[in-house]
Amino acid sequence: MKKIGILTSGGDAPGLNAAIRGVVKSAKELHNMETVGFYFGFGGLIDNNYTTINETSGLLTKGGTILKTSRIKPFKGEDKDEKIKSILHNYRNHDLSALVIIGGNGTQKTAYNLSKELGLNIITLPKTIDNDISGTDVSFGFSSAVDIATEAIDRVHSTASSHNRVMIVEVMGHKAGWIGLHAGLSSGSDIILLPEIPFSFKKVYEAINKRVEQRKNSTIICVAEGAFSHDEIELLPAELASKRKFRSIGQRLARKIEKHTPYESRLTVLGYVQRGGSPNAFDRNLATILGANVANLIEARNFGNMVGYIDNEAKIVPLIDVAGYLKTVEKDNQGLVAARSIGISFGD
Ligand code: F6P
Repeated sequence: MKKIGILTSGGDAPGLNAAIRGVVKSAKELHNMETVGFYFGFGGLIDNNYTTINETSGLLTKGGTILKTSRIKPFKGEDKDEKIKSILHNYRNHDLSALVIIGGNGTQKTAYNLSKELGLNIITLPKTIDNDISGTDVSFGFSSAVDIATEAIDRVHSTASSHNRVMIVEVMGHKAGWIGLHAGLSSGSDIILLPEIPFSFKKVYEAINKRVEQRKNSTIICVAEGAFSHDEIELLPAELASKRKFRSIGQRLARKIEKHTPYESRLTVLGYVQRGGSPNAFDRNLATILGANVANLIEARNFGNMVGYIDNEAKIVPLIDVAGYLKTVEKDNQGLVAARSIGISFGD
């Protein structure tokens, strides 16, 4: 009986358990393979902390990851040689036919290195709420995060209009604006601020004032955590670092709006709420479709690839085309163009 390993690495995201289920069930069903799960990402592979996954009941809808996760990086740190030695030892000792790695951008890079440098048989799946992985149109976790952020912003509209306030909702996304753009658009936000489009505080005040001139007495701003302003680029690096350390972009924005406009402003930082809980239907199916492709790739010894989702189909994408690339929102993105066409301001 062939044995495969699986681990989840990086931030948790809705759909991780559905993907584990897809891999484990199809491996058993199609090729009678057994699956061993390593705990805490690469940590479990280094420490040989593992379990045999026999039971997948209830996994489809469950949030987080039953295998736990961590941001441990095997190729970083003073102890990297020992970590790599342990990985090789445990991989061989378990007699693994392949290792399935589920993770985001950084994880894909590590997976590529494990395949290229150590010659391990690697297949990856794209997971992240940030949707910033190259080689796939979408990663699982993203759609659920957008749903949660949309509902949260929908609810903030009531306070905005009842108090005539400027309400800011800060969403995640790291260096990419996918959650900000999609949740901002679907929630009817008036201003959307993204890392890809440096903004000016002055333009934000102007957009708020323009709404008041149109007798719209409240404004909703959806700001991505990685957004930044032109004005702050001019600050000395140390000054900027201290601002960023103590205040998020949402906090800095709320303070400035109160100082430079006559309006009250309040901030909601969604944080880990948008990463938690059960995956939506799209993410359950995406994770299952991608996960169910893994066993055939292993059987065909087609390694060093990610199973991506392109044009609504699972596609095999070489890890060399994924690792080290960041997928960000481009200027001609249809959502962005549509948002501009209906008068949403990006503060630029
Ligand atoms: O990559 C997913 C993500 O949630 C980002 O959006 C966010 O910047 C980061 O992880 C937070 O990481 P941590 O869980 O380590 O605080």
